[in-house]
Amino acid sequence: MIKNHSIAGLALCATLLGAGATSAFAADETLRSLAEKNNIYIGAILNSQWFSGQLPGNYEQIHKTQFNIVVAENEMKFDATEPSEGQFNYNNGDKMVKYAKANGMRVRGHALAWHSQVPGWVSQKYGKNKKELLRVLKNHIEKVVGHWKGQIDEWDVVNEAISNNEPQWRTYSVWYEGIGPEFIDSAFVWAHAVDPDAELCYNDYNLEQGINPKAKAGFLLEQVKRWVANGIPIHCVGSQTHVEDTTTDKHFIGSPDSLRSLAKELAKLNIKLKITELDIGFKSGINVSKSDLERQGKTFREYLDIVLEEPNADTYLIWGVSDKWSWLSGLNRQKGLIYDDNLNPKPAFDSIMVRLQTYEPPKDTSSADSCEADSCGDSTNVIRTFTVRAGISMHLAGRTLSIAGVTAAKVEVFDMQGRPVFNARNVKGSVELKNVSEGLYVIRIQEGTKSLMQKITIK
Ligand code: G3I
Repeated sequence: MIKNHSIAGLALCATLLGAGATSAFAADETLRSLAEKNNIYIGAILNSQWFSGQLPGNYEQIHKTQFNIVVAENEMKFDATEPSEGQFNYNNGDKMVKYAKANGMRVRGHALAWHSQVPGWVSQKYGKNKKELLRVLKNHIEKVVGHWKGQIDEWDVVNEAISNNEPQWRTYSVWYEGIGPEFIDSAFVWAHAVDPDAELCYNDYNLEQGINPKAKAGFLLEQVKRWVANGIPIHCVGSQTHVEDTTTDKHFIGSPDSLRSLAKELAKLNIKLKITELDIGFKSGINVSKSDLERQGKTFREYLDIVLEEPNADTYLIWGVSDKWSWLSGLNRQKGLIYDDNLNPKPAFDSIMVRLQTYEPPKDTSSADSCEADSCGDSTNVIRTFTVRAGISMHLAGRTLSIAGVTAAKVEVFDMQGRPVFNARNVKGSVELKNVSEGLYVIRIQEGTKSLMQKITIK
């Protein structure tokens, strides 16, 4: 019944369902199962309190049932993983990777080169000594990425390196002040050298505030163009998307439409957009009404639409599960997540759920960039996909994959939970995707810094 609601009717639907009305959905339907049907990742952080066993049992139950991608709130940051020079602590990160494996979840690593949560010893010992800081950052990235090689699917390699006020790099940063902006390019190169299979992202906030050259996203776009042109191994941009409910902040200038424009620009560069830290808070101290929560649900849905509709967007990750354990109070905001203090789903949860249920992808989901009349989706029992990106072209007919533009590529196929189901090395010409059963997958073809990633359907 819910599937027949028009999109315009979703807010009403969420209103009728109310915060606790998840029973209106089929018992076996979760955000996760619906996200998988829609070929996307949906996730939430594991809060720091989870690592120290301070959360009630239903927190984890909800987390693993509803989400298929995970990231640690603080436990993979520099101060957590290398609290003293050369003394690495991987315990909490290992705990999360084990949890993700046991529950078939994709893993994000957050974050390698960031100005915040850098332990005191870095500047106390090395101040602005460029040579030493380069050595420290390189060693940190090599050790941490190396430790989780093959287990972390994507890394925030550089986090929040752009200034808030002007279109330029953030100067208030131990890495920028000591090394200069080249720490950024280098961080990507170092991470890629250690784990060439990991997706590498630049991650930042306020990217939903427009792509004009004076806005953060406009400045970033110019950098991404330069990185791509120079062969810097970057595969994705993470938009943190910590936004405030529009009616309570006159200065709010971000919008889902602006973020969608960024996704479209990144698509031209073969770079993905991921929503990595979403929350939509209200100002602290205000009385949040039922209709406020419904409007919040609508905004959650509008950001989800980008991930559902833009072919280069695949991830919708929320910075917390319940309002009870949220960093937002430190920002003078409240109630920005999709479960309330008692771990009951809010209207935002229902709004996301309904949208995932009702979304109908366009008929041809192959998102072919180039398609010649005689090779376009024709047959009813063989799916043909023809795609060209980054100089690599790919053609899939049944299970026969033909590749051009490479001399010896690595081909990998993952299921929608990020688990590898096929891989072959030194492929040139064509390869049979043997033993891959029918379904939706992501294929990755890589040679050096050239790579093509594409959702495929095998029938
Ligand atoms: O670990 C210490 C603990 O030893 C001490 O007793 C306690 C006392 O305050 O502090 C603990 O550290 C806190 C840490 O979280 C771990 O809980 C810090 O004070 C606190 O500032 C820190 O806040 C984190 C914040 O990043 C720091 O920048 C938040 O939990 C975390 O949600 C937040 O996450 C960031 C993303 O990494 C990047 N994007 C923005 C996002 C929200 O700020």
